[in-house]
Amino acid sequence: MRRPSTGSGGPLDDDPSGPGKDAGDGAAAEPPADPTVGPGVGPYAGPWPDDPRLDPELLATGDRRNVLDRYRYWRLDAIVADLDEHRAPLHVAIQNWEHDFNIGSIVRTANAFNVSAVHIVGRRRWNRRGAMVTDRYLHVEHHADVASLVAATTAAGVSLVGVDNLPGAVPLEPVELPRSCCLVFGSEGPGLTEEMVAACERLVAITQHGSTRSLNAGAAAAIAMYHWSRRWGS
Ligand SMILES: C[S@@+](CC[C@H](N)C(=O)[O-])C[C@H]1O[C@@H](n2cnc3c(N)ncnc32)[C@H](O)[C@@H]1O
Repeated sequence: MRRPSTGSGGPLDDDPSGPGKDAGDGAAAEPPADPTVGPGVGPYAGPWPDDPRLDPELLATGDRRNVLDRYRYWRLDAIVADLDEHRAPLHVAIQNWEHDFNIGSIVRTANAFNVSAVHIVGRRRWNRRGAMVTDRYLHVEHHADVASLVAATTAAGVSLVGVDNLPGAVPLEPVELPRSCCLVFGSEGPGLTEEMVAACERLVAITQHGSTRSLNAGAAAAIAMYHWSRRWGS
């Protein structure tokens, strides 16, 4: 089983903590389990279950994590292994030029759709606050540049689909996205770079009807993943 939140893709710039660790944004750590406070369940009551997927500490103290009920008391690696059994053939990639606060939100949505991988292109450091620790249940790969992303997605057999309202983009709504694909999102502000657009097999845009120029990147990513899921999600 692959370990979640692993790094790949060559030398990267500014994450002092290394792959899979809190990059210093202060929110990657799961809140301490308090058996008397918050959502979730308290200490396990009844005969001690004999199931290697269960975490003895969680059984003893309670499980206050934001997980489905079926994963209550499960060890993190057991949950990841179970998710790995039915990952969607969908990847998402995000260009990270500006420590974009949307990345956490996109990662959380990617977890909800159980994507195969999240690719962060550019700066390794990103704002984990919005991810609400969901990155731990995903395979997050870092890439120094577009070429590294292309190599990884080619190896995985998925085509790159740029999602941005740039010239040349076609409306997303009538498009049937490929079943195996990687949706690529740009940073707040600049959006997708020309190099990234050139690497994409197609470019789609979510049709807007108001006055604002673009959607928030996190919202756009959720719409695009949902669009894919309506056709291919099971
Ligand atoms: C704020 S937008 C970036 C800039 C945008 N290209 C512009 O001209 O204003 C940040 C990212 O959100 C996503 N996004 C925002 N609005 C979108 C739309 N209408 N269609 C597709 N993607 C959108 C894209 O991935 C984009 O790179």
